[in-house]
This record gives sequence, C-alpha cells and structure tokens, in this order.
Amino acid sequence: MTTPHDVLDAADPLAAFRDRFVIDDDLVAYLDGNSLGRVPKATVERLTTFVRQDWGNRLIRGWDDSWVDLPVTVGDELGAALLGAAPGQTVIADSTSVNIYKLLHAAAGIRADRDEIVIDATNFPTDRYLVESVAASRGMTVRWLQPDLVDNVTVDVLAEALGERTAVVVLSQVDYRSGTLVDLPAITQLVHGAGAVVIWDLCHSAGIVPIDLDAAQVDFAVGCTYKYLNSGPGAPAFMYVAERHVGAVTQPIAGWWSAADLFAMSETYEVAPTIRRMLSGTPSVSGIIAVQEGVRLIAEAGTDAIRAKSEALTAYTIELLDEAGLEVVTPREAALRGSHVTVRHPDARRITDQMIARGVVPDFREPDLIRLGLSPLTTSFAEVEAGVRILRDCIRNA
Ligand SMILES: Cc1ncc(COP(=O)(O)O)c(C=O)c1O
Repeated sequence: MTTPHDVLDAADPLAAFRDRFVIDDDLVAYLDGNSLGRVPKATVERLTTFVRQDWGNRLIRGWDDSWVDLPVTVGDELGAALLGAAPGQTVIADSTSVNIYKLLHAAAGIRADRDEIVIDATNFPTDRYLVESVAASRGMTVRWLQPDLVDNVTVDVLAEALGERTAVVVLSQVDYRSGTLVDLPAITQLVHGAGAVVIWDLCHSAGIVPIDLDAAQVDFAVGCTYKYLNSGPGAPAFMYVAERHVGAVTQPIAGWWSAADLFAMSETYEVAPTIRRMLSGTPSVSGIIAVQEGVRLIAEAGTDAIRAKSEALTAYTIELLDEAGLEVVTPREAALRGSHVTVRHPDARRITDQMIARGVVPDFREPDLIRLGLSPLTTSFAEVEAGVRILRDCIRNA
C-alpha cells in the first residue's frame, strides 16, 4: 500500500519552501519544473528593486558598483552551493549551448594531438549538434556511444569507445529523457585514464544532486539555470573550468569581456589570466541576479535535503505508476536517477495534451515519452498523486 500523500507532505522537511514561490496559477499539478522552474518570491522583489533603484537610479554607475563582477561572484556562489567548486572556476554567461561551444574548443585545444570527440547518441540535441559542428570545424571525428535508454552511459559502455585518439568526452550527468543519473566520478576517472578530458552537461542535475566537481577532478562542466535553479526563461547558464586548465584554455568567442583589462580598449587582445577569459560580451545583469536568488534558495535548503526529497518524490511517483501498470523508463534504484520520472506510452503526445487540458503539466518527449518533473522545493506529494491520477484517467480515455 502506498503511503497517502498527505502523510508524506506532513513529514516533508522542505514543505515550507513552497511558500517562497509564486504559486497562484490554476493548475492541479505542475510537473515540469525540470524544464522551467517556478518563480521565487525573492526574485520578484529583487528584480523590482534592481529595475527601480539599481538600474533606475545608478544607471551606468551600476557597472562600477558591482555589475562588472557579477559573472564571477555569482559564479563562485553557484560553484560553492551546487558544484563543489572552489572560487575562480565558475562563471555565469550566455546559454548552455554557447558555453558548450566554447568548452568544446577549449577542451579540444588542450588535447590538440588527438582527433576524436566521444558523445552518446542519446544526449540532448544541442550537445550532439555542437559536437558535430565543432568536430567538423576542427577536422575531428565524432565517436557515437549507443547506450540503452534506461542504463545510459556506464563505465563499460564508455570504456569500449575510448582510445589513443580520444580528445574529449561529452556526457550529461542526468539523461534528459530517462532521468538516469550516471556515475560522474567513475566516468571522469576512466576518461582521464585514457588521457582525454571530459565536459559534463549538468542541466538536469545541478540543484538536484549534490555534485563535487573539484573532488572528482572534472575538467569542464556546463548547465542551465532555468530548471531546478528557478532563474527564469532564458536565464544565463553557468560554466566550470577546473583551476588547472584555466590558464591553458582558449575559447573561440574572444571579446572585450574575456580580455585582461576590460576597459583598457587596447589595440591588441590580451586574454584574461582568470576564469573571465571564458566570457565574451556584456552579461545580462537582471539574468544573473535571478540566478543568484535561485542559488541562495538552494543553498538555504541544502543539496542533501533536496536530494533526499527528490528521491522520495521519484520513489512515490514510480510506486503510483507501477500501481497503474504503466511502463516506467527511469531506473528503479534511487541512486541511479535524477529528479524526473518518465513513462513510455504509444499515445504519449495525445495523453500529454489531455493532461494539460485538465490542469496537469508534464512534458512530452519524442517519440513516446511523458516526463514527470519533480522539483523538491516546489513539488508536493499531493501534486504527484493528482498528476498520476489524471494521467491514469487520460490513458483510460485515450
Ligand atoms: C541536457 C541539456 N543540455 C542543454 C540544454 C539546452 O541548453 P540551452 O539553454 O542552450 O537552450 C538543455 C535544455 O533543456 C538540456 O536539457
């Protein structure tokens, strides 16, 4: 017998965090925080103050007040709270896609004697497309992994693909379709053993899974902030470059923000010796402020508590889906999954549309997957119960 949702909500140590978000929509259940997180109330206030006072009154002086350093100072905050990253290795900038492009060139550049990039064919489209395009522009070859959807990339699957030609490996820590969480420390070690470097895409794991990039000796990482970091649509992404590589990497969008002296306006380009070298142009100050508020909420709750609730939410969801006899394509072992649970059904698209019409928002993924995203700071067990109940109903009527 599944524990009733009200008992689970009453025992939830993070339940009070829900009140810290704007929740005045007419939805029965929002199960898409893994695509776009809800709005923190603190962000509403902070952005209002920013527009009225900081931008409104300080105008151009705001850059000298603090804005110029925000990509790095908020990067450090995010790195400390979410990534296990010491200062000086994380910046907030651009989109995940642009950052992957920069990191691919940076990573390939420090393994210039090798000519293969390894990526799984199940990875998110932007990662795959960028790998193909950067490989083509540098005369490199792409080696595709073909992992099982649920098991995803294991040490065994990857080991077979690595060799003396491998320069860079690009992987997602949590698979965007199945929600599978792969073994980041073991895989990083394996890649290093083959003499290559790794770029981790943390879009579906940052803010959900305690991550220790420094301890795992990760080379590069990237991730977005609009999912579990609740920073808003199109909020800037983050990028991590391990300290040992910072002085050695070059990236292809060299702009005035990656120059050693931003305001020197020098005739020739001299690259910044610090993580600032990964920047390019003027950052979105309002976007970074929203990232900072999202990071602060996660820091306050703590990633261990968030992970514990995430595991409980996904376990509860899987129990309900099992009771309904549905096909779950997310690992059953809590340690092997992120914070979304995926159902496979031949009528997935139609069912998703029907669910949305009934006030439950999941996510459809081609060709036959329904993703149920569970955000520990905002998702209640009652929402999960209602969401799966309506999913069952919609399937019955499909
Ligand atoms: C794993 C992964 N990588 C990359 C992206 C996209 O990045 P961008 O912010 O550049 O659109 C997403 C978006 O959902 C994603 O899930």
